[in-house]
Amino acid sequence: MKLIVDIIAGTRPNFVKVAAILSAFRQHTRIEPNWSFRLIHTGQHYDLNMSDTFFSQLKIPAPYINLGVGSGSLAEQTASIMIGYEKLLMSCPSNMCVVVGDVTSTMACAVVAKNFNIPLAHVEAGIRSGDMSMPEEVNRIVTDAISDWFFTTSEVANKNLKLIGIQDHQIHFVGNTMIDTLLTNMQNLRKPSFFDDIVGEKKKYLVLTLHRPANVAEEANVAKIIEDICMTVDQLPLIFPAHPRTAKIIQNIASFPTNLHIVPPQSYLEFNWLVKNAAAVVTDSGGITEEATVMRVPCLTVRDNTERPETITIGTNKLVGRQGDTLKNDLHSILHMKWKKGSTPKYWDGKAGARIIKNLDNILESYVL
Ligand code: UD1
Repeated sequence: MKLIVDIIAGTRPNFVKVAAILSAFRQHTRIEPNWSFRLIHTGQHYDLNMSDTFFSQLKIPAPYINLGVGSGSLAEQTASIMIGYEKLLMSCPSNMCVVVGDVTSTMACAVVAKNFNIPLAHVEAGIRSGDMSMPEEVNRIVTDAISDWFFTTSEVANKNLKLIGIQDHQIHFVGNTMIDTLLTNMQNLRKPSFFDDIVGEKKKYLVLTLHRPANVAEEANVAKIIEDICMTVDQLPLIFPAHPRTAKIIQNIASFPTNLHIVPPQSYLEFNWLVKNAAAVVTDSGGITEEATVMRVPCLTVRDNTERPETITIGTNKLVGRQGDTLKNDLHSILHMKWKKGSTPKYWDGKAGARIIKNLDNILESYVL
């Protein structure tokens, strides 16, 4: 009988990461692997734009089950995911659980798997922002504290794990699954249908994304960030694919600068086309700083810290905090072509998924069988 390896996905960035792992599994050269994946969709993200289009565009197979947890407070989501996954494991246990990233679904399923004594592997382990006000940082710490194997994206992550006592043989520096998916799809990126009407020219616009509670909880904060950018870029269009939470917050703002274009959350191929061809990206997402680095697009992060320091030391990213002046000065430099070119961090080469599969194969052979 084949061993069952659960792989957990609940949100947009999770879908991008599991796409690379599942694709590498399909290309796995062993004729008859003695294990296979069971994809568990928690339902944390559920809209067409936030979930379904990622499955179709990234050719992710239909999940084995969708726990359908939907929206709620952090505690409600965590509890629903735990109850749903626990029920599944009670009726149909698995032999290993793979969690990716740092979202609520990652941490909730990791805890449940551990309660069932199921070996646990964490993809994108070891990254740390040091900012305990972010739920993602808590999720990273909890997940790493109980995982058995750690697949990492950087040397910094390896060091962080060693500092908390993880042994060398548990850490596998494999690279970045998000970048696997980006490189696989680079030739298929698609111009969004609205682009010619509101922009028309490549490199003559900026992209903005904001979804972190620290930035979008207050309407005035979002309005200020938009105003700072729009004032500085001298009528260049600013395209703002608004996350559902952000869209709700800004719906009552009476007027926006005329060069702001709010559009729905974009599908993967359209969103990355926009990033690739933008003059710059302003964001509070971590994953987008990695994608911008690989596409050599200048990136400004509206946060005071990052768990992905290599996007700054090696890549095109810079932290601009939440004070408008740094953002404005840096935008000015970018528009005057005074920005670092950046290069690509080690192992962000499109082969992370294949390295993960190879390691999982060895692990399953020696520890679980
Ligand atoms: C989550 C992750 C964050 C990740 C982001 C990517 C956590 C703690 N945060 O944040 O790390 O960068 O996803 O987008 O897990 N909503 C919809 N439709 C959806 C999904 C959400 O309308 O398909 C709305 C709901 O009102 C929901 C709100 O957006 O309450 C926030 O969604 P949630 O999943 O709680 O967290 P994100 O902000 O998306």
